[in-house]
Amino acid sequence: MAMLFVNACMREGSRTERIARQWLERHGGAVEELRLGQLAVPTLDANSIVQYEQAVASAKYEHPMFDFAKQFATAEEVLIAAPVWNNGIPAKLHAYLELVCSQGITFDIGQDGYMSLCRAKRLTFVTTAGGPMPEGADEHAFGYVRTLATVFWHIPDVRCVFADSLDQPDTDVDQALAMAIENAAR
Ligand SMILES: Cc1cc2nc3c(=O)[nH]c(=O)nc-3n(C[C@H](O)[C@H](O)[C@H](O)COP(=O)(O)O)c2cc1C
Repeated sequence: MAMLFVNACMREGSRTERIARQWLERHGGAVEELRLGQLAVPTLDANSIVQYEQAVASAKYEHPMFDFAKQFATAEEVLIAAPVWNNGIPAKLHAYLELVCSQGITFDIGQDGYMSLCRAKRLTFVTTAGGPMPEGADEHAFGYVRTLATVFWHIPDVRCVFADSLDQPDTDVDQALAMAIENAAR
């Protein structure tokens, strides 16, 4: 699979999705899209964590909860689009990433620490915020994704494309989105 587009934009007419689609248009190529807003994304809970740990211990990953991780591991490039919600990412994206971080599928632990089992060489995170990005916000949204991408999956090129203050009354939204795409091209 060439490009995996993890679409965690929930709203009809999402501005984040507009940037992501323009970005995809510019890059071309085959895209496999996951519309997280319309998919069941299970969370690890008291029951599923038992199955998860048994699967990891025995390296038997038949359970469908591992399908997201298997798909992610084969992507050559990843695009994730999600709005800033409560200075972080939507819960559904968090649940998705939790499953993608399945040991033995997207990463493993060796003598020298974490080993990546992913093919991707680039991950782009597209996001928008209603207000200005506050100090430290980077640590909860893009920063979280960047940490997973570098520590677990060893993706060398991890970028963020963003537009903020979109819900401020004096913001020209079309211009802000165009600028985000323009900056991403640099
Ligand atoms: C549930 C929810 C939480 C939000 N939390 C924040 C926030 O913490 N900071 C912020 O600047 N904007 C916040 N917003 C505003 C969105 O980030 C902003 O409108 C964004 O552009 C929405 O992206 P979309 O058009 O792709 O849906 C929130 C919006 C919603 C619906």
